[in-house]
Amino acid sequence: MRTVASYHHKGGVGKTTTAVALAANAAAAGHRTLLWDLDPQGSATRLVGVDRGIDGGVTALFDDPAGLAGQALDTAHERLRVVPADLSLRWLDRWFADGGGTADGSLDAAMERAAAEFDLLVLDCQPAVSAASAAVLRATDLVVVPLTAGPLAWSAFADLDAEIDAMTAEQRPDVLAFLTMVDRRKGLHRELVDDVEPTDGFSQVAVPTDSRVERMALAADPLRAVLNGRAGSAYRSLWQEIEASLRGRVRWP
Ligand SMILES: Nc1ncnc2c1ncn2[C@@H]1O[C@H](COP(=O)(O)OP(=O)(O)OP(=O)(O)O)[C@@H](O)[C@H]1O
Ligand SMILES: [Mg+2]
Repeated sequence: MRTVASYHHKGGVGKTTTAVALAANAAAAGHRTLLWDLDPQGSATRLVGVDRGIDGGVTALFDDPAGLAGQALDTAHERLRVVPADLSLRWLDRWFADGGGTADGSLDAAMERAAAEFDLLVLDCQPAVSAASAAVLRATDLVVVPLTAGPLAWSAFADLDAEIDAMTAEQRPDVLAFLTMVDRRKGLHRELVDDVEPTDGFSQVAVPTDSRVERMALAADPLRAVLNGRAGSAYRSLWQEIEASLRGRVRWP
């Protein structure tokens, strides 16, 4: 099983939209996919049509012998299951800060127990710098970082990139940043898109602003907005780039 985390410590940059879009694309491409909503806001949970929380609260995520797979709920989409979020996740950081069983080991163990049933785990992270986010960064294969066109999102990304660079080679995840909510009518947005060089760690994909995405929470099938249309087409390209890079790392289905 490969693990991809959608993360940026800045809020509102498109992490949840990205996690849901990547999970939906992976499932559509044939991978048994588990979306793990780590944000007590529960937005990813709602977007995949689930209105239940964690059975037994946050500690059950790690202590339940059935592990993550035991908490996974079906969605309306084939091969896509979700570990839901609820307000008990407010204790997630405390759990990690206090050692969390064997701390990172327990996160790894929880993931390990899901590995037999899933090909891909997609994490939707909270907008925070915390013990939990540090543990997730260490445990994941790839961190996908959505960047909006504002300078503040970029300077915060530079900090995050430096932090990841400082991790040991064994713990350091790959990083893939990309532009999102791009509005080509705006000069700043056009400049940024034109400046993106095809370098390691930065995707050429720019997800456009798409009103279908803004309205997706109101739709009968919200995932259609990230599988179809202008944003959906960009997210499909982003998924294909990620799929190729995950295949490159190890043998993967
Ligand atoms: N491509 C897009 N086009 C239009 N709106 C978008 C697009 N991507 C995201 N949005 C909207 O931007 C808002 C923030 O997106 P999202 O919730 O994914 O961000 P987030 O980083 O997960 O936020 P938080 O930090 O609160 O978890 C949402 O209202 C979402 O619908
Ligand atoms: Mg979010």
